[in-house]
Amino acid sequence: MSEIHFNKEKGSQIKLFTPGPINIPERILKEMAKPNDTHRSKPYAEMHQLVEEGLKKILYTSNTCLISTSSATGLMEACVRNLVKNDEKVLFLSIGAFGDRWYKIGVTNGKNSVKEGVEWGKAITPEVVQDVLSKDKYAVVCIQSNETSTGVYNPLDEVIPIIKDSGALVCVDATSSMAGIKIDVDKLKIDICLASVQKAFTIPPGLAVCSISQAAIEKVPQVKNRGFYFDFSDLLKRAEKHQTPTTPPIPQIRALAAQIDYILNQEGLENRFERHAQLGKRTREWAKDTNFEMFPEKGYESDTVSTMRNSLNIDIEKMVSLLLEKGYRIVNGYGDLKNKTFRIGHMGEVTVKELEEMLSVLTDIVSNLR
Ligand SMILES: Cc1ncc(COP(=O)(O)O)c(C=O)c1O
Repeated sequence: MSEIHFNKEKGSQIKLFTPGPINIPERILKEMAKPNDTHRSKPYAEMHQLVEEGLKKILYTSNTCLISTSSATGLMEACVRNLVKNDEKVLFLSIGAFGDRWYKIGVTNGKNSVKEGVEWGKAITPEVVQDVLSKDKYAVVCIQSNETSTGVYNPLDEVIPIIKDSGALVCVDATSSMAGIKIDVDKLKIDICLASVQKAFTIPPGLAVCSISQAAIEKVPQVKNRGFYFDFSDLLKRAEKHQTPTTPPIPQIRALAAQIDYILNQEGLENRFERHAQLGKRTREWAKDTNFEMFPEKGYESDTVSTMRNSLNIDIEKMVSLLLEKGYRIVNGYGDLKNKTFRIGHMGEVTVKELEEMLSVLTDIVSNLR
């Protein structure tokens, strides 16, 4: 097993159908092995700028785009620390574990935090948002696009206009969908749209990115105690020179520059979104054929991660470990959903053919376990 897992010579040979981190193509690994200049050099700034400009295209925005030397959780914390004043309230629209995490970040930073949600497996509705916003005033509203724990994709097109009408700034955690599912930042007027890169971007973990609107930029100086590491004013100041305030993981930034070029100029954005749509559709068809119910309510299933109910009542842990013996990793349900659900990630560079191959092995395992 260590030959397919750790593998001292070749690295892990496991095929990851996980909701991130995911398999990284050889061309990206090679890119990361290239020598670099320092993070204050001109060549570095050129590389950094390529990422900033590429992100604008991927997010359909003219807003400034930032690179954070953290995972996505760091930027979730940055939103809370930089945009919410002491006499203001922040609303977290939670539909699962990562919405709950964002609320916890608000609370632990001493912000006046309110959480409103729906039953796990469901999407937030315009009615819920309308109702909560009619009862109180919020300066900032935080919401996931794709909730990775439940595999639900929120109807952003329907709820964000309602949030914007209330006058609040809106922050979207698109960690498990950015670069896999289209999100039109300017059309929706999203103030901050953030993600880490180890998911649909297909880069090893260690970086997060976001777009930031002019309204959010103007809010930052009004907020006290923004901390040091995640102070947007510092990040913005450095971004003017196409740099980060602290030493960044330069190989990851080189990789991201190359991957964004691949996404925009080789695969093409629309093709990439369509491939993810096909991956989602194919997984849902497989679930239906195998008699697993989808956990998300119909119409809100994610195209990057599928969460299935354990409707066959089989030993999920065993299923996952038998599949691992065949060289594929999928994952059990998240937190309390463990053994009640399981998840298949289908994002990044995975093709429908590769997904089919894994699903056919999984089908045999499921029928043996029934
Ligand atoms: C929706 C969502 N938000 C936030 C996170 C946290 O991301 P990171 O581990 O990059 O901090 C994850 C990670 O899986 C996620 O799926």
